[in-house]
Amino acid sequence: MKEFWNQRYNQEAYAYGKAPNIYFKKVLSSLEPGKILLPAEGEGRNAVFAASLGWEVYAYDFSEIAFQKATQLAQEKKVTINYQIASLSELDFSPEFFDAIALIYVHFPDTVRTPNHCKLLEMVKKGGAVFMEAFSSNHPFYQKQNPAVGGPKMPDQLYNITKLKNDFESLQTINLSEEIVHLKEGQYHNGKASVIRFFGKKPL
Ligand SMILES: C[S@@+](CC[C@H](N)C(=O)[O-])C[C@H]1O[C@@H](n2cnc3c(N)ncnc32)[C@H](O)[C@@H]1O
Repeated sequence: MKEFWNQRYNQEAYAYGKAPNIYFKKVLSSLEPGKILLPAEGEGRNAVFAASLGWEVYAYDFSEIAFQKATQLAQEKKVTINYQIASLSELDFSPEFFDAIALIYVHFPDTVRTPNHCKLLEMVKKGGAVFMEAFSSNHPFYQKQNPAVGGPKMPDQLYNITKLKNDFESLQTINLSEEIVHLKEGQYHNGKASVIRFFGKKPL
């Protein structure tokens, strides 16, 4: 799987562009800067944007090429990010270390997603934010009409409101919605998509 992502990123262009995801930008801009973790961050579009707003950014991804391109983007935008080539199991952050964790198009099957979310929640401070955007279980309809919109091909890597409600039941939900959006993110997310958006806070 890592080879798939290294191959995707092994081109000069940024696969999902250099601009942040729109929902990420909207939610992040409503929060006071602090420490943020970006799991599976890819080529760094969201990390670099967060750093430009004054966040102390921590990010990881298992793709070495993603790391190289994120580092290059951070240099280009003259910001600092702490980016590790790693998977979640290799991280060593103390509990309640982060003010925010944002998962943007991070797709795993149920057996991996739920334990991952559980582990990530431990790393969020009380009062801290968790937010995400991911393709929904209804997305294959749009993917078939227009493959350029991208998204996982395996149904169990797609999300729905029930799955996220269960994973994040310990959080105070601010938004949990399924939405039709028009993605325009680099070469690989282009067109009408069905996404799930979540924004919640850990109770004080
Ligand atoms: C669709 S991309 C999204 C990248 C980024 N979040 C964004 O929105 O631009 C999914 C990312 O997940 C990463 N990934 C997949 N499985 C992973 C794993 N087990 N550990 C770390 N990263 C992983 C891939 O390398 C890829 O960069």
